[in-house]
Amino acid sequence: MAVSVVVGTQWGDEGKAKVIDHLAASHSIVARYQGGHNAGHTVVIGTEKYALQLTPSGVFYETVTPVIGNGVVVDLPTLFKEIDSLESRGISCSRLKVSSLAHLIFPWHQAIDAALENARGEGKIGTTLKGIGPAYVDKVKRSGIRVGEVLNLATFETKVRDRAIAARREVSDIGGDTFDVETVVSEFVAYAKRLSPFVADTVNLLHDAREAGEAILLEGAQATFLDVDHGTYPYVTSSNPTSGGAAVGSGLGPRHIDRVVGIAKAYTTRVGMGPFPSELTDALGEALVDIGREYGTVTGRRRRTGWLDTVMLRHATRLNSLTEIALTKLDVLDTFDEVKVCVAYKINGEVVKNYPDTVERLAEVEPVYETLPGWKSSTEGITSFDALPDSAKKLVAIVERETGIPVSLIGTGPSRDAIVERS
Ligand code: GDP
Ligand code: IMO
Ligand code: MG
Repeated sequence: MAVSVVVGTQWGDEGKAKVIDHLAASHSIVARYQGGHNAGHTVVIGTEKYALQLTPSGVFYETVTPVIGNGVVVDLPTLFKEIDSLESRGISCSRLKVSSLAHLIFPWHQAIDAALENARGEGKIGTTLKGIGPAYVDKVKRSGIRVGEVLNLATFETKVRDRAIAARREVSDIGGDTFDVETVVSEFVAYAKRLSPFVADTVNLLHDAREAGEAILLEGAQATFLDVDHGTYPYVTSSNPTSGGAAVGSGLGPRHIDRVVGIAKAYTTRVGMGPFPSELTDALGEALVDIGREYGTVTGRRRRTGWLDTVMLRHATRLNSLTEIALTKLDVLDTFDEVKVCVAYKINGEVVKNYPDTVERLAEVEPVYETLPGWKSSTEGITSFDALPDSAKKLVAIVERETGIPVSLIGTGPSRDAIVERS
């Protein structure tokens, strides 16, 4: 398979990075295509745990070229902190390429993000406060500054200063924390110098690699139901994590994508606000938080938890043209007396299978559950499908029945090797 996409099918943190790390061994490029350092992608190798926000999850293989694609918004302080941290742990980042077309995040984007969230009060989105939305606003407004501009330091400096002066006024108008313009300018001139060797025409790089027969993996951040078009708007991020976004955000055309792997947790989590039909607000929800260690990688926030929702997975299958599903964190359900799966919604007494098109309708649905007996035995570290308990196999069968596509990978623990690969 030449080009594969990995996409989250729920509200993020499905274990995308672990699956990408697994698949990266057979790919020569791993490219992020949207989002920014709002992502927190965890890879566990032996006793080492790595949490990546911007660096593609293929960075651990010397055979892989990690690429930050044109659709990403890049926060330079975070990128360099991450590179320094990885290199101090013996992981080389020298192969990293950053698209000249990607947009930069500046401190005013973070100030605007925070001020807008404050102003929303009760109606806040619960963003990661990383400036992601405001950076994409500048991109769409055609006033953003792109990565490639760092190659001409004189014009870059002038542009940053002009934007900083205007943004300072904007931030002050909405009651946000202002900043010293010249401090920001000098910091970003230094970052620009450091970024220059990484800047590349990644669009042609990806096409050339594909035409030479190399395998490319496109790494989604966030997830289908955080997509600005298809997610639970306005409780979404400001990019298109769905697989269509992988084409736009990498420059590869839709017909170049051969495989789309949807990552689904064996239950559901969400950070931030917005409707969540299968949410558990009782002791079972607490147990999922505790056993699944459901705290955000980036913000440390406690994730909301609930049962697996196959109405969402079915919609994600449609939206992303999923070819298969990787079901992660199965082991987290090992001790539950029973395991429920939402297989339909009831709206005003009517049973529906189609995901509602507005958050207002979604907030009204009542989940229809199928209940399985808990398997009450450890699946941790299991690598063969046959070795899984019958009830766990039944859970996999329900996902396949409801989505119409195979479950090709099953996660049985955080570490690299804890994975069932089905042929
Ligand atoms: P991502 O944003 O989709 O890459 O996911 P995160 O890294 O934010 O969150 C997934 C968490 O679950 C991380 O702490 C992973 O180490 C962990 N994880 C991934 N797969 C599994 C699995 O199959 N079982 C268990 N127990 N943990 C997993
Ligand atoms: P990964 O890639 C989970 C959520 C935020 C908030 C909403 C908007 O690790 O799965 P933003 O800062 O993007 O404007 O916030 O999106 N969010 C995520 N939730 N995982 C993520 O990334 C997320 N990135 C953003 O919590 O609800
Ligand atoms: Mg995450």
